[in-house]
Amino acid sequence: MKILIVGSGGREHAIAASVAKSSKADKIYCAPGNAGIAQIAKCVPIGAMEFDKLAAFAKEKAIDLVVIGMDDPLVGGLTDVLEAEGIRVFGPRRNAAILEGSKAFSKDLMKKYNIPTAAYETFDSPKDALAYLEQAPLPIVLKADGLALGKGVLICHTLEEAKAGVKTIMEDKQFGDAGNRLVIEEFMTGREVSVLSFVDGKTIKTMTSAQDHKRAGDGDTGLNTGGMGTFSPSPFYTEEVDEFCRNYIYQATVDAMAAEGRPFQGIIFFGLMLTEKGPRVLEYNARFGDPEAQVVLPRMKNDIVEVMEACIDGRLDTIELQFEDNAAVCVVLASGGYPVSYEKGFPISGLEAFEGRNDYFCFHAGTKLSDGQIVTNGGRVLGITATGADLKEARAKAYEAAEWVSFEKKYMRHDIGKAIDDCL
Ligand code: AMP
Ligand code: GLY
Repeated sequence: MKILIVGSGGREHAIAASVAKSSKADKIYCAPGNAGIAQIAKCVPIGAMEFDKLAAFAKEKAIDLVVIGMDDPLVGGLTDVLEAEGIRVFGPRRNAAILEGSKAFSKDLMKKYNIPTAAYETFDSPKDALAYLEQAPLPIVLKADGLALGKGVLICHTLEEAKAGVKTIMEDKQFGDAGNRLVIEEFMTGREVSVLSFVDGKTIKTMTSAQDHKRAGDGDTGLNTGGMGTFSPSPFYTEEVDEFCRNYIYQATVDAMAAEGRPFQGIIFFGLMLTEKGPRVLEYNARFGDPEAQVVLPRMKNDIVEVMEACIDGRLDTIELQFEDNAAVCVVLASGGYPVSYEKGFPISGLEAFEGRNDYFCFHAGTKLSDGQIVTNGGRVLGITATGADLKEARAKAYEAAEWVSFEKKYMRHDIGKAIDDCL
């Protein structure tokens, strides 16, 4: 098969690495890709939002399967555009990707179908939002309705902060049109867990659990980022939690989407909070997590192309997902200053240390080839993943390997997976 992957981050590198292991994959393309992906796929300089060019390329090369890694093209309807040209696509259509594309939609869906989540109200005008805040309990959570690179969520501890937040999102439009509507949500506390799943419209098969570290600094300080590191599995995702989510969240979400005439095919990522009252949905995403994919996919035993095809053909019920009985930790190496401002173009050395190993992975996130040299080309530069018999071993190995690579302004968190010590 000829397979085209759409995206350019560490997630897409992890997807490409899994696809490369498939006996079904003869030729892999990636648009636009990065310097790491270029080692296993042919990268083509077409942006993920250039739908017409992607469709023309897929037709010209007679691509058998397109895998869309990123949220923007999914929410924008790339699946629909490609399908209209007769191309097979792994990833939800526009009317289903709205599960991630609109927080107001997903909250209304959960309310209508009794899927456990935080209480909320939706506002179209800043005036109504401000009036509501006057009597709302604190802390309170403000969420821009649309996609905002994971940054459109503000946790406000005072009324002043909340009022300023309404201004930032709805009036100053810091997140653009994503802030035309605002969801104001009850603040919850608990541990967060990410559960990714394959979905074929009716059947859902969940993957092993993972946990992200979203804040930039050690001890969960600093600004929110796309994710500074992950570990899998999460020891906090117990059998009891899994049973609750199976009973009240996973299938209920898939059934709700089908009942709304929006059958979901692709990946549903459940962002869960394990509260005292039980698991609650924080958010849905319509794609693999980044950097969750970098710890979940290296542990998956299945042929990923077979699973993706089963999703497209509506026969996921015939597939049993299998994961290694081990653990994985991913430490993101970022460029100093991320997520605010950072420089690009620093040469990266030490990458050859990963060659020929099957328990250490260097997933490229923001890199490019410049005059024969791999250089930094983004805020998140590399995701260093290691697998081990357990989380402790995987963490020690990931931090060991994080030292193999050097580039100017290299920055990482030093406490990825530290929380697991609490339960070892
Ligand atoms: P989201 O993009 O909706 O996942 O929100 C980003 C982050 O904000 C989550 O990973 C949580 O850490 C935090 N968050 C979102 N909603 C809530 C909530 N209702 N209560 C507490 N924290 C929240
Ligand atoms: N790591 C969180 C996300 O991919 O949205």
